Amino acid sequence: MSLQDLLAVLPAGSPEEALARQVNFDRLPEHVAVIMDGNGRWAAQRHLPRVEGHRAGIESVRDVVEGSARVGIKVLTLYAFSVENWKRPAMEVSTLMALLKRYLRLELNTLLRNNIRFRVIGRPEDLAPDIQRELADAEEKTAANTGMLFNIALNYGGRAEIVEAAKRLLAAGVRPDELDEQRFSGFLYTAGQPDPDLLIRTSGEMRVSNFLLWQIAYAEIWVTETLWPDFRKRHLLEAILAYQKRERRYGGIKQPAVAGR
Ligand code: FPP
Repeated sequence: MSLQDLLAVLPAGSPEEALARQVNFDRLPEHVAVIMDGNGRWAAQRHLPRVEGHRAGIESVRDVVEGSARVGIKVLTLYAFSVENWKRPAMEVSTLMALLKRYLRLELNTLLRNNIRFRVIGRPEDLAPDIQRELADAEEKTAANTGMLFNIALNYGGRAEIVEAAKRLLAAGVRPDELDEQRFSGFLYTAGQPDPDLLIRTSGEMRVSNFLLWQIAYAEIWVTETLWPDFRKRHLLEAILAYQKRERRYGGIKQPAVAGR
């Protein structure tokens, strides 16, 4: 994917187009992770029930998945439902699940057309059987795609992921002298994937919220006041441009974003 692929879906002369033209396609973040926040506040501002914010958030998901694939992001991870989100009212939880199911039904062809591979990270085994089937179906049908990897974090918790990884490595009989950071990473849900270079959080909150705790060790964090239902390609491009202006140090000395990893 490239500038031309991106320009094909941006209105000519739009602010998005101007932003797209500033992107350095040789220095893209490989993995972008997003904490989609602010759906409830978006709905409250409009005197609507909270679930309407989630419904509107689906359009942002569509726009950002398409935008990321066209920019040439290799891995996009969206935080859709945390292990803590079960504490929300049952109606909100069931609406979120129904929205997810609908999204998969409606968007599977778009994912296939755009060569996007879909994967779930988290504990889908605790979700309702019909949702599990839908997720497994989307994973299976997109498994051979070679373009962007789209991870959806569902029933996900960063600490739970680390504990599960520890259990699995003990069960695999890994001895302490064989264990290092790289080996440990291989037991996480994201085994084999690059760590996020850029973590985006919407709605202005300055929290990590138990998301990819191990993997974001060196991620650049970009927080926007924009609420998730208002988030579009334009904001993704702003985040990428901000990322490209950062110096990444990995605890060492100055180095430009991305290059020299
Ligand atoms: C946070 O907003 C958002 C969520 C807990 C859910 C995000 C889910 C979606 C956008 C829809 C389903 C996703 C996919 C990928 C199909 P909040 O409710 O915490 O907002 P608030 O902080 O303003 O209350």
